Amino acid sequence: MARKKVLVTGGAGFIGGNFVQYMVNKYPDYDIYNLDLLTYAGDLTKHKEIEKKDNYHFVKADIADRDAISALFEKEKFDYVTHFAAESHVDRSITDPEIFVVTNVLGTQVLLDAAKAVGGVTKFVHVSTDEVYGELDFDPTTFFTENTPLQPNSPYSASKASSDMLVRAYHKTFGLPINITRCSNNYGPYQFPEKLIPLTISRVLNDQKIPVYGDGKNIRDWLHILDHCAAIDLVLHEGANGEVYNVGGHNERTNLEVVKTIISILGKSEDFIEFVTDRLGHDKRYAINPTKLEALGWKPTYSFESGIAQTIQWYLDNKGWWEEIISGEYQNYFEKHYAL
Ligand code: NAD
Ligand code: DAU
Repeated sequence: MARKKVLVTGGAGFIGGNFVQYMVNKYPDYDIYNLDLLTYAGDLTKHKEIEKKDNYHFVKADIADRDAISALFEKEKFDYVTHFAAESHVDRSITDPEIFVVTNVLGTQVLLDAAKAVGGVTKFVHVSTDEVYGELDFDPTTFFTENTPLQPNSPYSASKASSDMLVRAYHKTFGLPINITRCSNNYGPYQFPEKLIPLTISRVLNDQKIPVYGDGKNIRDWLHILDHCAAIDLVLHEGANGEVYNVGGHNERTNLEVVKTIISILGKSEDFIEFVTDRLGHDKRYAINPTKLEALGWKPTYSFESGIAQTIQWYLDNKGWWEEIISGEYQNYFEKHYAL
């Protein structure tokens, strides 16, 4: 049987990077193509252990570069596309929305066009987010389902919702085989330290203040990255054509609870917590109902307690990785954004 070719866009980032490693190791008979522009969020050093493997390939390209993407699809004739590449940080979308439209909307449309033109793609999985549904209030009995209307509140989530609509339209209009996944907040190894959990871990370890937005009572629903990777693998192979799947593990925590948990595991003082000006348009609460995905056979393997302990240990063991990132461009961003 011919080897399957899987395109993973954004495979130098946090989730795409973990997914590339998961796929390269799990499917030696698949060729995994990591396509990434290597923006500030992309980093290939994480792939040292797999880059010598025959089934791993890297292509540097911009998903919004129509010529480059068409040529790549023509040449490789992918069987599967898993699309992670995006601008992903809400705060950056508030200060500089345009790149979010270019990458997340136009970039997705360029990929869809290439898949449609070349043909042969048996599944295009678009990795989206629960943020497209907007926010929930604090009533713990309410959840996002796949039928919740899209009401994005940030430029980031608006760009992701737009890309979701395009993916749906290419399925309905042109018959492209697709799935859309909408996952809650991920955490785990290799997350860029601009996001709450790695930001908190790295700053606590450096005895620095932890900036908590507003009163810290906003709620997120946390999922370990490897549970997300398993969900996408399952949807890629078993997802019903054209369907949307929510991904989440029922791990709701306030931001303050998350920060205090990390401080406590690291044996530091809560005096490091500093309440700072709230994020503009800050969504109150996200919470996922994952019943539809569970019916396919998925269930999370990490509790928040086991996942956060594993993640903190990983950041302790891999200080070199995040220290190098913090010392680069990110430092300028941090100083401009927080003025702590
Ligand atoms: P990330 O910011 O860590 O990584 C994004 C990757 O995309 C980087 O490697 C970057 O270099 C690459 N990229 C950016 N622009 C590109 C372009 N124009 N062409 C090619 N590559 C480009 O993001 P992440 O947290 O890993 O998120 C990945 C995907 O998952 C995103 O689509 C995001 O919306 C979605 N998602 C994220 C979360 C989360 O909690 N992080 C949750 C649900 C869904
Ligand atoms: O829900 C899925 C989404 O989760 C993904 O689509 C996004 O790509 C991903 O970035 C994430 O978005 P959030 O905005 O929820 O994640 P972030 O880590 O930026 O923030 C988590 C919560 O912590 C949020 O309520 C804001 C708060 N926060 C964040 C930062 C960076 C703080 O209180 N202080 C901070 O410094």
